[in-house]
Amino acid sequence: MTEAKKTPLLDDLEKGPWPSFVTEMKKAAANNLSAQDLLGQLELSYEDKKAHWKHGGLVGVMGYGGGVIGRYSDVPEQFPNVEHFHTVRINQPSGWYYNTKALRQVCDVWEKYGSGLTNLHGSTGDLVLLGTKTEHIQTIFDEVSSFEEHPMDLGGSGSNLRTPSCCAGPARCEFALFDTTDLCHELTNEFQDYLHRPMWPYKSKIKISGCPNDCVASIARSDFSFQGTWRDDIKIDQEAVRAYAEGGFDIQGLVIDKCPTKCMSFDGSELKIDNANCTRCMHCINKMCKALRPGDDRGATILIGGKAPILQGAMMGWVIVPFMKIEPPYEEVKEFLEKCWEWWDENGKTRERIGELILRLGMRNFLRAIEREPIPQMVVAPRANPFFFWWPEETVQD
Ligand code: HEM
Ligand code: HEM
Ligand code: SF4
Ligand code: SF4
Repeated sequence: MTEAKKTPLLDDLEKGPWPSFVTEMKKAAANNLSAQDLLGQLELSYEDKKAHWKHGGLVGVMGYGGGVIGRYSDVPEQFPNVEHFHTVRINQPSGWYYNTKALRQVCDVWEKYGSGLTNLHGSTGDLVLLGTKTEHIQTIFDEVSSFEEHPMDLGGSGSNLRTPSCCAGPARCEFALFDTTDLCHELTNEFQDYLHRPMWPYKSKIKISGCPNDCVASIARSDFSFQGTWRDDIKIDQEAVRAYAEGGFDIQGLVIDKCPTKCMSFDGSELKIDNANCTRCMHCINKMCKALRPGDDRGATILIGGKAPILQGAMMGWVIVPFMKIEPPYEEVKEFLEKCWEWWDENGKTRERIGELILRLGMRNFLRAIEREPIPQMVVAPRANPFFFWWPEETVQD
């Protein structure tokens, strides 16, 4: 056993009301050497105000090109038990619904071969096992993937399809406009090859929300953002509306006046919505969920291009398909994704996200490749400059 190092700076973070990660790490360190050395190395980082991991690291399991993030300490002589400290991404169940059996199994494996430390969950969604040695990676994979009940596979990493994730969905949300958990599960299975074997210019992410509240923040954190929507009328229960009014709820001030398109009115007894001008922002439904419900003609809006700043600046997804029916076996969704990926794979530069490629080559080239017409819903405003390109066939040739 390495002698437990003193950690005065970290100890400070055990004070205060929020659950302390230091306390949790100490629990793991009580019977795990690498958790103990991790505390030591972290204390050193707090002293030095810099990381003590070496650059990069390439490890994995046979047959896959991603799923494990290799990491090596740059002070292994001080902390030999974190000399290797690789991270294993395990694909989470859609919506992060577990039973205790599933969690116990993975904990048993992780206690045997890892640091006992986890991240529930990584930002993309994976169940993250934090810290193991190269020689254990294959064993961990073999064991978790052969559980009799609830076997688990690795998630994605590298220039590939990353682990898709979705909101809680219809399992416990009355706003869900399609089965987010089912679509997420189905796409994960359908595109296993893209997920496990990086073959693209860069990463590609899918996130799925059941309505425009977008509880998995798909618009900001995924190249392909699915958000449930509807295209018929909002369902109004006028009795329930009146009950809100009688209960002292300020319908005019908190709902009518805040509708972004000003398409609602309330005369004290009846609520009216001009649905043709409703943009399905969810506000009135969020505020009066006992009286208002999304319509019955349901599907999703698909947005493309969400990404973080590097290289061309941060982007939020923008509309590419205003409405698509989302029903098993999801053929239209799959075809759409395949077309987008194919064009990107053909044209993308190394480490160019699909949003950046569209920025570089233009929507007209992208839309032509995926066989979709440009429509007004794709833009906030028409272009303000006149530098317009015509297709050669659109110009008059003498
Ligand atoms: C000090 C004033 C100006 C400077 C330094 C300037 C500079 C330039 C430069 C460097 C370009 C080439 C951009 C590129 O290809 O990337 C350009 C293009 C252009 N400029 Fe100017 N410009 C000036 C004033 C104007 C004015 C006053 C107009 C119109 C009233 C104008 C109209 C254009 C147009 C139409 C193009 C595009 C040409 C094309 O590529 O088809 N410019 N300008
Ligand atoms: C009495 C003054 C001017 C005359 C007679 C004149 C004439 C012309 C002519 C005949 C053309 C070619 C049009 C074509 O090929 O169809 C042209 C193009 C152009 N002129 Fe002028 N021009 C004048 C002043 C200016 C000024 C002051 C500017 C900029 C401030 C300017 C900017 C341009 C540009 C940018 C083009 C190219 C437009 C394009 O690429 O389609 N012109 N001008
Ligand atoms: S995104 Fe919509 S459907 Fe999904 S959990 Fe949030 S509110 Fe519910
Ligand atoms: S969903 Fe939004 S835009 Fe539509 S009526 Fe309600 S508040 Fe107005």
